Amino acid sequence: MSEKSDEKQSVSVVRVWDLPTRLFHWTLVLLMVLQWWSAENSATMDYHMWGGYAVLVLVLFRLIWGLVGSETARFSSFVRGPGAALAYFKALSRGETPLYLGHNPMGAWSIVALLTLLLIQAGTGLFANDDIMVEGPLYGWVSKGVSDWLTGVHRLNFNLLLLLIAVHVGAVLFYLLVKRENLVHPMLSGRKHLPGIVQAPRLVSAWRALAVLVTALAAVGWLVR
Ligand code: HEM
Ligand code: HEM
Repeated sequence: MSEKSDEKQSVSVVRVWDLPTRLFHWTLVLLMVLQWWSAENSATMDYHMWGGYAVLVLVLFRLIWGLVGSETARFSSFVRGPGAALAYFKALSRGETPLYLGHNPMGAWSIVALLTLLLIQAGTGLFANDDIMVEGPLYGWVSKGVSDWLTGVHRLNFNLLLLLIAVHVGAVLFYLLVKRENLVHPMLSGRKHLPGIVQAPRLVSAWRALAVLVTALAAVGWLVR
């Protein structure tokens, strides 16, 4: 080994994101584009419904995966109190960049918020109507007045979702341009380069993810049958 490389600080390449979490993320991004496009005219409303069911399955999958999935996907491993998020924010303001194997305490809250808004979006869609010919599959469960109200929430919540997504992408850009940390590459490859010797998180088998996906599919299928 050359002297130069001896002097270098060691870097560990660690698998931090499992395949199910990455597939969840990028499929969700594609589906959100489909949902936006398909909501724009009634001819594409069929796609909108199917895309909406798919979002619901994905979010349900992610919620269960947050309980039984890999270490970095579990809510118990990354959701911390507001104090931790504030301390992280202060550290960022001082110009520091505390390193995390998975999500940092601020990112964690934005993820909880994104999942909540996505659930509201897909949930209200099930009861929505367009006053012409399109109705969500659970439209019959409520009165026309309640369906109209939920349709209003469906439209308003979408704007909140767009705002949060803009903040989310803005945060990723901030890390890239200001902190010089590329978070997108790990979300694609699953791997992070971290200084020092780092203990890899426990990633569970993809078979478990498949079982969770089947459960989420069955639950949504049963709901909208
Ligand atoms: C996360 C997933 C979803 C997103 C992002 C989304 C987005 C939207 C948006 C932006 C509109 C408003 C279009 C407008 O202003 O004219 C809309 C309308 C609508 N969506 Fe969704 N939607 C989702 C899921 C669903 C689901 C699961 C259903 C039902 C199965 C659904 C049913 C409807 C219906 C019936 C309308 C027409 C209401 C109206 O005229 O505004 N959506 N959706
Ligand atoms: C429709 C738009 C998007 C939604 C709804 C969304 C949602 C999410 C969610 C729920 C997570 C948490 C992942 C998990 O633990 O399961 C996440 C993480 C992440 N997203 Fe997105 N995302 C969107 C767009 C994007 C885009 C366009 C990029 C790239 C520019 C991106 C980059 C990332 C990265 C890098 C992470 C991991 C952050 C970290 O290291 O803590 N996202 N996103």
